[in-house]
Amino acid sequence: MKAKHVADSITEQVHIVMPSHISGTNRLFGGQLLAWIDEVSAVTARRHCEHDVTTAAIDNLQFKAGVYINNLLVLVGRITYVGKTSMEIRVDTYVEDHISGTRNVVNRAYLVLVALDEDENPTEVPRLILETEAEHAEWEAGMRRKQLRSERRRDGY
Ligand SMILES: CC(C)(COP(=O)(O)OP(=O)(O)OC[C@H]1O[C@@H](n2cnc3c(N)ncnc32)[C@H](O)[C@@H]1OP(=O)(O)O)[C@@H](O)C(=O)NCCC(=O)NCCS
Repeated sequence: MKAKHVADSITEQVHIVMPSHISGTNRLFGGQLLAWIDEVSAVTARRHCEHDVTTAAIDNLQFKAGVYINNLLVLVGRITYVGKTSMEIRVDTYVEDHISGTRNVVNRAYLVLVALDEDENPTEVPRLILETEAEHAEWEAGMRRKQLRSERRRDGY
């Protein structure tokens, strides 16, 4: 089985927040952000596994700050953990100050995507080559999150 680096699939998506993205409370609509997060995670996973993918789970979605019209929104997807056919992707969303370049985190999400073969059955994904301390730490935490998710599924939620 092929092996790939985390850097091979890192995906960045940028948006200017428009009136059509805003909710009744004048902030970015959470459902819009979720759609972008799902898209970024799917591209990251597809780049890693080189197959079509489907989203199996979205968890740990934390909205840390509001996002407003005309903000520059940056989403970054990176792979954190792989099982046999599943991949965990972390998507960080930032508001970027285009003058200073500072990025403030507004959301962090972890998603599980499964690679699908031509018959839409789960298929094996490449191993992940871990290089940095941060990548090793994410992998360890990803193993624990996988365990927690399977316990929750066993308990019916
Ligand atoms: C995700 C899906 C393909 C899994 O199929 P399945 O027959 O349950 O396959 P398996 O039991 O072999 O699981 C495959 C992998 O997915 C993981 N998985 C399955 N359901 C999961 C869940 N709810 N949460 C996290 N991981 C999950 C398994 O742990 C396994 O990982 P591994 O191979 O790395 O160990 C299937 O449940 C499905 O098609 N779901 C609908 C997905 C969808 O339509 N998403 C779009 C939402 S609009």
